[in-house]
Amino acid sequence: MKVSVIGAGNVGATCADAIARGNYVNEVVLLDIKEGISEGKALDMWQTAPISSYSTRTTGVTNDYTATADSDIVVITSGLPRKPGMSRDDLISVNAGIVKSVTENVVKHSPNTIIVVVSNPLDVMSYCAYLTSGLSSNKVMGMAGILDTARYRAFLATEIGCSPRDIQAMLLGGHGDTMVPLPRYTTVSGIPVTELVAADKLEAIINRTINGGGELVKLMGTSAWYAPGTAAAQMVEAIVRDEKRIFPVCAWLNGEYGLEKVYAGVPVVLGKGGIERIIELQLDDSEKALLNKSAQAVREVMDVYDRMQTA
Ligand code: NAI
Ligand code: 2OP
Repeated sequence: MKVSVIGAGNVGATCADAIARGNYVNEVVLLDIKEGISEGKALDMWQTAPISSYSTRTTGVTNDYTATADSDIVVITSGLPRKPGMSRDDLISVNAGIVKSVTENVVKHSPNTIIVVVSNPLDVMSYCAYLTSGLSSNKVMGMAGILDTARYRAFLATEIGCSPRDIQAMLLGGHGDTMVPLPRYTTVSGIPVTELVAADKLEAIINRTINGGGELVKLMGTSAWYAPGTAAAQMVEAIVRDEKRIFPVCAWLNGEYGLEKVYAGVPVVLGKGGIERIIELQLDDSEKALLNKSAQAVREVMDVYDRMQTA
Protein backbone atom coordinates (compact mmCIF):
# COMPACT_ATOMS: atom_id res chain seq x y z
CA MET A 1 0.00 0.00 0.00
CA LYS A 2 1.23 3.46 -0.90
CA VAL A 3 0.02 6.79 0.45
CA SER A 4 1.05 10.23 -0.77
CA VAL A 5 0.68 13.37 1.30
CA ILE A 6 0.66 16.62 -0.65
CA GLY A 7 1.93 19.60 1.35
CA ALA A 8 4.75 18.97 3.79
CA GLY A 9 3.86 21.80 6.13
CA ASN A 10 2.57 21.45 9.67
CA VAL A 11 -0.45 19.26 8.93
CA GLY A 12 1.06 17.26 6.04
CA ALA A 13 4.23 16.35 7.92
CA THR A 14 2.29 15.41 11.06
CA CYS A 15 -0.05 13.24 8.99
CA ALA A 16 2.82 11.50 7.17
CA ASP A 17 4.57 10.91 10.50
CA ALA A 18 1.42 9.40 12.04
CA ILE A 19 0.88 7.11 9.04
CA ALA A 20 4.53 6.01 9.06
CA ARG A 21 4.43 5.26 12.79
CA GLY A 22 1.23 3.25 12.32
CA ASN A 23 3.22 0.78 10.20
CA TYR A 24 0.24 -0.24 8.05
CA VAL A 25 1.50 0.96 4.63
CA ASN A 26 4.73 0.16 2.80
CA GLU A 27 5.42 3.66 1.57
CA VAL A 28 4.57 7.27 2.29
CA VAL A 29 5.53 9.92 -0.28
CA LEU A 30 5.61 13.52 0.89
CA LEU A 31 5.40 16.24 -1.80
CA ASP A 32 5.70 20.01 -1.52
CA ILE A 33 6.57 22.87 -3.86
CA LYS A 34 9.18 24.25 -1.44
CA GLU A 35 12.56 22.92 -2.53
CA GLY A 36 14.03 20.35 -0.14
CA ILE A 37 11.41 20.53 2.62
CA SER A 38 9.70 17.22 1.76
CA GLU A 39 13.00 15.46 1.17
CA GLY A 40 14.31 16.67 4.53
CA LYS A 41 11.20 15.82 6.56
CA ALA A 42 10.80 12.40 4.92
CA LEU A 43 14.46 11.60 5.58
CA ASP A 44 14.08 12.68 9.21
CA MET A 45 11.05 10.34 9.51
CA TRP A 46 12.96 7.46 7.90
CA GLN A 47 15.71 7.98 10.47
CA THR A 48 13.04 7.74 13.17
CA ALA A 49 12.02 4.28 11.92
CA PRO A 50 14.87 2.39 13.64
CA ILE A 51 14.14 4.17 16.93
CA SER A 52 10.38 3.77 16.88
CA SER A 53 10.48 0.34 15.21
CA TYR A 54 8.43 0.81 12.09
CA SER A 55 9.15 -0.23 8.49
CA THR A 56 7.17 2.34 6.50
CA ARG A 57 9.50 3.82 3.88
CA THR A 58 9.14 7.61 3.78
CA THR A 59 10.40 9.56 0.79
CA GLY A 60 10.11 13.22 -0.09
CA VAL A 61 10.00 15.05 -3.44
CA THR A 62 9.77 18.62 -4.68
CA ASN A 63 6.71 18.86 -6.93
CA ASP A 64 7.50 15.59 -8.73
CA TYR A 65 4.21 13.75 -9.12
CA THR A 66 5.78 10.75 -10.84
CA ALA A 67 6.93 9.72 -7.35
CA THR A 68 3.28 9.60 -6.24
CA ALA A 69 2.26 7.26 -9.09
CA ASP A 70 -0.20 4.50 -8.19
CA SER A 71 -0.92 5.81 -4.72
CA ASP A 72 -3.81 4.00 -3.08
CA ILE A 73 -4.67 7.10 -1.06
CA VAL A 74 -3.62 10.75 -1.40
CA VAL A 75 -4.04 13.26 1.42
CA ILE A 76 -4.15 16.88 0.23
CA THR A 77 -2.94 19.38 2.83
CA SER A 78 -1.36 21.95 0.49
CA GLY A 79 -2.55 25.51 0.90
CA LEU A 80 -2.44 28.50 3.17
CA PRO A 81 -3.50 28.13 6.81
CA ARG A 82 -5.47 30.80 8.65
CA LYS A 83 -3.88 33.79 10.34
CA PRO A 84 -5.55 35.46 13.33
CA GLY A 85 -8.70 37.33 12.27
CA MET A 86 -9.26 35.18 9.15
CA SER A 87 -12.11 32.75 8.63
CA ARG A 88 -11.50 29.46 6.81
CA ASP A 89 -13.58 30.82 3.92
CA ASP A 90 -11.13 33.72 3.46
CA LEU A 91 -8.63 31.15 2.14
CA ILE A 92 -10.65 30.20 -0.94
CA SER A 93 -9.07 32.55 -3.47
CA VAL A 94 -5.58 31.10 -3.00
CA ASN A 95 -6.36 27.54 -1.92
CA ALA A 96 -8.85 26.76 -4.70
CA GLY A 97 -6.11 27.24 -7.30
CA ILE A 98 -3.68 25.12 -5.29
CA VAL A 99 -6.10 22.26 -4.62
CA LYS A 100 -7.30 22.23 -8.23
CA SER A 101 -3.81 21.98 -9.74
CA VAL A 102 -2.69 19.47 -7.10
CA THR A 103 -5.74 17.27 -7.82
CA GLU A 104 -5.09 17.37 -11.57
CA ASN A 105 -1.53 16.17 -10.99
CA VAL A 106 -2.61 13.55 -8.47
CA VAL A 107 -5.16 11.82 -10.71
CA LYS A 108 -2.84 12.00 -13.73
CA HIS A 109 -0.50 9.62 -11.90
CA SER A 110 -2.97 7.78 -9.63
CA PRO A 111 -6.23 7.56 -11.59
CA ASN A 112 -7.86 5.12 -9.15
CA THR A 113 -6.80 6.73 -5.90
CA ILE A 114 -8.90 7.75 -2.91
CA ILE A 115 -8.49 11.43 -1.95
CA VAL A 116 -8.72 12.81 1.59
CA VAL A 117 -8.79 16.60 1.53
CA VAL A 118 -7.61 18.65 4.51
CA SER A 119 -7.01 22.09 2.97
CA ASN A 120 -9.46 24.85 3.90
CA PRO A 121 -12.16 25.89 3.35
CA LEU A 122 -12.56 22.15 3.83
CA ASP A 123 -16.01 21.41 2.46
CA VAL A 124 -15.47 23.50 -0.66
CA MET A 125 -11.95 22.19 -1.25
CA SER A 126 -13.45 18.68 -1.12
CA TYR A 127 -15.97 19.82 -3.76
CA CYS A 128 -13.08 21.22 -5.83
CA ALA A 129 -11.16 17.92 -5.63
CA TYR A 130 -14.31 15.96 -6.49
CA LEU A 131 -15.10 18.04 -9.60
CA THR A 132 -11.47 18.19 -10.72
CA SER A 133 -10.63 14.52 -10.18
CA GLY A 134 -13.62 12.97 -11.95
CA LEU A 135 -13.51 10.23 -9.30
CA SER A 136 -16.71 8.83 -7.83
CA SER A 137 -17.93 10.64 -4.73
CA ASN A 138 -17.19 7.70 -2.40
CA LYS A 139 -13.50 8.25 -3.24
CA VAL A 140 -13.27 11.99 -2.51
CA MET A 141 -13.83 13.10 1.06
CA GLY A 142 -12.74 15.73 3.55
CA MET A 143 -11.30 15.50 7.05
CA ALA A 144 -12.95 17.74 9.63
CA GLY A 145 -15.41 15.78 11.74
CA ILE A 146 -12.81 13.60 13.45
CA LEU A 147 -10.95 16.76 14.45
CA ASP A 148 -14.04 18.65 15.56
CA THR A 149 -15.38 15.72 17.59
CA ALA A 150 -11.90 15.19 19.06
CA ARG A 151 -11.94 18.77 20.35
CA TYR A 152 -15.43 18.24 21.75
CA ARG A 153 -14.36 14.94 23.37
CA ALA A 154 -11.22 16.50 24.84
CA PHE A 155 -13.18 19.39 26.39
CA LEU A 156 -15.77 16.95 27.78
CA ALA A 157 -13.04 14.72 29.22
CA THR A 158 -11.57 17.71 31.06
CA GLU A 159 -14.99 18.68 32.42
CA ILE A 160 -15.99 15.16 33.49
CA GLY A 161 -12.53 14.13 34.67
CA CYS A 162 -12.44 10.97 32.55
CA SER A 163 -10.43 9.55 29.69
CA PRO A 164 -11.24 11.08 26.29
CA ARG A 165 -11.16 7.49 24.96
CA ASP A 166 -14.44 6.81 26.73
CA ILE A 167 -16.31 9.64 25.04
CA GLN A 168 -18.18 8.86 21.81
CA ALA A 169 -19.62 11.74 19.87
CA MET A 170 -21.09 12.65 16.51
CA LEU A 171 -21.16 15.95 14.71
CA LEU A 172 -22.71 17.11 11.43
CA GLY A 173 -22.39 19.92 8.93
CA GLY A 174 -19.65 22.11 7.52
CA HIS A 175 -16.23 22.70 9.06
CA GLY A 176 -16.95 26.21 10.25
CA ASP A 177 -19.00 28.29 12.65
CA THR A 178 -22.18 26.44 11.65
CA MET A 179 -20.95 22.93 12.54
CA VAL A 180 -23.53 20.92 14.49
CA PRO A 181 -22.27 18.97 17.54
CA LEU A 182 -24.98 16.53 18.64
CA PRO A 183 -25.35 16.14 22.42
CA ARG A 184 -28.17 13.62 21.81
CA TYR A 185 -25.56 11.38 20.16
CA THR A 186 -22.84 11.91 22.79
CA THR A 187 -22.17 9.21 25.36
CA VAL A 188 -19.55 8.46 27.98
CA SER A 189 -19.05 4.69 28.02
CA GLY A 190 -22.70 4.37 27.11
CA ILE A 191 -23.93 6.96 29.63
CA PRO A 192 -25.77 9.89 27.99
CA VAL A 193 -23.57 12.98 28.38
CA THR A 194 -26.53 14.94 29.75
CA GLU A 195 -26.43 12.73 32.88
CA LEU A 196 -22.84 13.79 33.58
CA VAL A 197 -22.58 17.40 32.43
CA ALA A 198 -24.95 20.24 33.38
CA ALA A 199 -26.81 21.92 30.51
CA ASP A 200 -25.00 25.27 30.82
CA LYS A 201 -21.58 23.59 30.91
CA LEU A 202 -22.48 21.45 27.89
CA GLU A 203 -23.56 24.53 25.96
CA ALA A 204 -20.27 26.25 26.78
CA ILE A 205 -18.33 23.18 25.60
CA ILE A 206 -20.29 23.10 22.34
CA ASN A 207 -19.50 26.78 21.75
CA ARG A 208 -15.84 26.21 22.53
CA THR A 209 -15.80 23.30 20.07
CA ILE A 210 -17.35 25.42 17.32
CA ASN A 211 -14.64 28.02 17.89
CA GLY A 212 -11.94 25.41 18.61
CA GLY A 213 -9.90 26.11 15.48
CA GLY A 214 -9.99 29.87 16.07
CA GLU A 215 -8.88 29.44 19.70
CA LEU A 216 -5.69 27.77 18.47
CA VAL A 217 -5.08 30.26 15.66
CA LYS A 218 -5.23 33.03 18.26
CA LEU A 219 -2.73 31.26 20.49
CA MET A 220 -0.26 30.21 17.80
CA GLY A 221 -0.67 32.70 14.94
CA THR A 222 -1.43 29.79 12.59
CA SER A 223 -3.82 26.85 12.67
CA ALA A 224 -3.46 23.56 14.49
CA TRP A 225 -1.60 20.52 13.16
CA TYR A 226 -1.17 17.69 15.71
CA ALA A 227 -4.85 16.77 15.96
CA PRO A 228 -5.62 17.59 12.28
CA GLY A 229 -2.68 15.55 10.96
CA THR A 230 -3.48 12.62 13.25
CA ALA A 231 -7.17 12.76 12.32
CA ALA A 232 -6.39 12.53 8.59
CA ALA A 233 -4.07 9.59 9.32
CA GLN A 234 -6.90 7.85 11.21
CA MET A 235 -9.05 8.05 8.07
CA VAL A 236 -6.17 6.63 6.01
CA GLU A 237 -5.77 3.76 8.48
CA ALA A 238 -9.48 2.91 8.39
CA ILE A 239 -9.36 2.72 4.57
CA VAL A 240 -6.05 0.80 4.36
CA ARG A 241 -7.09 -1.75 6.97
CA ASP A 242 -10.66 -1.91 5.63
CA GLU A 243 -11.80 -1.32 9.20
CA LYS A 244 -15.39 -0.17 8.46
CA ARG A 245 -14.98 2.51 11.11
CA ILE A 246 -17.82 4.96 11.58
CA PHE A 247 -16.58 8.56 11.60
CA PRO A 248 -17.99 11.96 10.84
CA VAL A 249 -16.54 12.70 7.38
CA CYS A 250 -17.12 15.47 4.88
CA ALA A 251 -19.00 13.63 2.12
CA TRP A 252 -20.88 14.45 -1.08
CA LEU A 253 -24.59 14.36 -0.29
CA ASN A 254 -26.98 13.51 -3.07
CA GLY A 255 -30.32 13.30 -1.33
CA GLU A 256 -29.15 12.05 2.08
CA TYR A 257 -30.54 14.18 4.92
CA GLY A 258 -32.71 15.86 2.25
CA LEU A 259 -29.62 17.67 0.99
CA GLU A 260 -28.72 17.70 -2.69
CA LYS A 261 -25.29 18.19 -4.22
CA VAL A 262 -23.38 19.59 -1.28
CA TYR A 263 -20.34 18.48 0.72
CA ALA A 264 -21.02 18.30 4.46
CA GLY A 265 -20.00 16.31 7.53
CA VAL A 266 -22.10 13.18 8.16
CA PRO A 267 -21.46 9.78 9.74
CA VAL A 268 -20.02 7.34 7.23
CA VAL A 269 -18.57 3.83 7.16
CA LEU A 270 -14.93 4.01 6.03
CA GLY A 271 -13.34 0.96 4.45
CA LYS A 272 -11.29 -0.11 1.47
CA GLY A 273 -13.84 1.37 -0.94
CA GLY A 274 -13.55 4.78 0.73
CA ILE A 275 -16.95 5.96 1.90
CA GLU A 276 -18.84 2.67 1.83
CA ARG A 277 -22.07 3.98 3.35
CA ILE A 278 -23.55 7.23 4.60
CA ILE A 279 -25.51 6.75 7.80
CA GLU A 280 -28.67 8.81 8.10
CA LEU A 281 -29.51 9.72 11.69
CA GLN A 282 -33.09 10.32 12.79
CA LEU A 283 -32.67 14.02 13.54
CA ASP A 284 -35.20 16.07 15.46
CA ASP A 285 -36.51 19.35 14.05
CA SER A 286 -33.93 21.59 15.70
CA GLU A 287 -31.02 19.37 14.63
CA LYS A 288 -32.40 19.31 11.07
CA ALA A 289 -32.68 23.10 11.05
CA LEU A 290 -29.08 23.49 12.21
CA LEU A 291 -27.84 21.04 9.56
CA ASN A 292 -29.77 22.83 6.82
CA LYS A 293 -28.30 26.15 7.93
CA SER A 294 -24.81 24.69 7.89
CA ALA A 295 -25.29 23.17 4.42
CA GLN A 296 -26.55 26.53 3.20
CA ALA A 297 -23.39 28.20 4.51
CA VAL A 298 -21.26 25.64 2.63
CA ARG A 299 -23.35 26.16 -0.52
CA GLU A 300 -22.66 29.88 -0.46
CA VAL A 301 -18.90 29.22 -0.54
CA MET A 302 -19.38 26.50 -3.20
CA ASP A 303 -21.11 29.20 -5.28
CA VAL A 304 -18.08 31.44 -4.84
CA TYR A 305 -15.93 28.56 -6.10
CA ASP A 306 -18.25 27.94 -9.08
CA ARG A 307 -18.16 31.64 -10.01
CA MET A 308 -14.34 31.59 -9.82
CA GLN A 309 -14.33 28.85 -12.48
CA THR A 310 -16.38 30.88 -14.95
CA ALA A 311 -14.72 34.28 -14.30
P1 NAI B 1 1.48 25.03 6.22
O1 NAI B 1 1.67 26.41 5.68
O2 NAI B 1 2.29 24.60 7.39
O3 NAI B 1 1.74 23.97 5.04
C1 NAI B 1 1.15 24.08 3.80
C2 NAI B 1 2.16 23.54 2.80
O4 NAI B 1 1.53 23.50 1.50
C3 NAI B 1 3.41 24.42 2.66
O5 NAI B 1 4.58 23.67 2.95
C4 NAI B 1 3.38 24.85 1.21
O6 NAI B 1 4.66 24.99 0.61
C5 NAI B 1 2.57 23.73 0.57
N1 NAI B 1 2.03 24.09 -0.73
C6 NAI B 1 1.47 25.25 -1.13
N2 NAI B 1 1.13 25.17 -2.42
C7 NAI B 1 1.45 23.93 -2.84
C8 NAI B 1 1.31 23.24 -4.07
N3 NAI B 1 0.78 23.81 -5.14
N4 NAI B 1 1.76 21.98 -4.15
C9 NAI B 1 2.30 21.36 -3.08
N5 NAI B 1 2.46 21.97 -1.87
C10 NAI B 1 2.03 23.24 -1.77
O7 NAI B 1 -0.08 24.88 6.52
P2 NAI B 1 -0.76 23.76 7.45
O8 NAI B 1 -0.87 24.25 8.83
O9 NAI B 1 -0.11 22.47 7.18
O10 NAI B 1 -2.25 23.75 6.86
C11 NAI B 1 -2.49 23.23 5.57
C12 NAI B 1 -3.95 23.43 5.18
O11 NAI B 1 -4.77 22.59 5.99
C13 NAI B 1 -4.47 24.82 5.35
O12 NAI B 1 -5.33 25.17 4.28
C14 NAI B 1 -5.25 24.76 6.65
O13 NAI B 1 -6.25 25.75 6.74
C15 NAI B 1 -5.84 23.39 6.54
N6 NAI B 1 -6.27 22.79 7.80
C16 NAI B 1 -7.45 22.10 7.77
C17 NAI B 1 -7.91 21.46 8.89
C18 NAI B 1 -9.16 20.67 8.82
O14 NAI B 1 -9.72 20.34 9.86
N7 NAI B 1 -9.64 20.30 7.66
C19 NAI B 1 -7.16 21.54 10.16
C20 NAI B 1 -5.91 22.26 10.07
C21 NAI B 1 -5.49 22.86 8.91
C1 2OP C 1 -8.84 23.95 12.38
O1 2OP C 1 -10.03 23.70 12.65
C2 2OP C 1 -7.99 25.68 10.88
O2 2OP C 1 -9.54 24.12 10.10
C3 2OP C 1 -8.49 24.31 10.97
O3 2OP C 1 -7.94 23.93 13.21
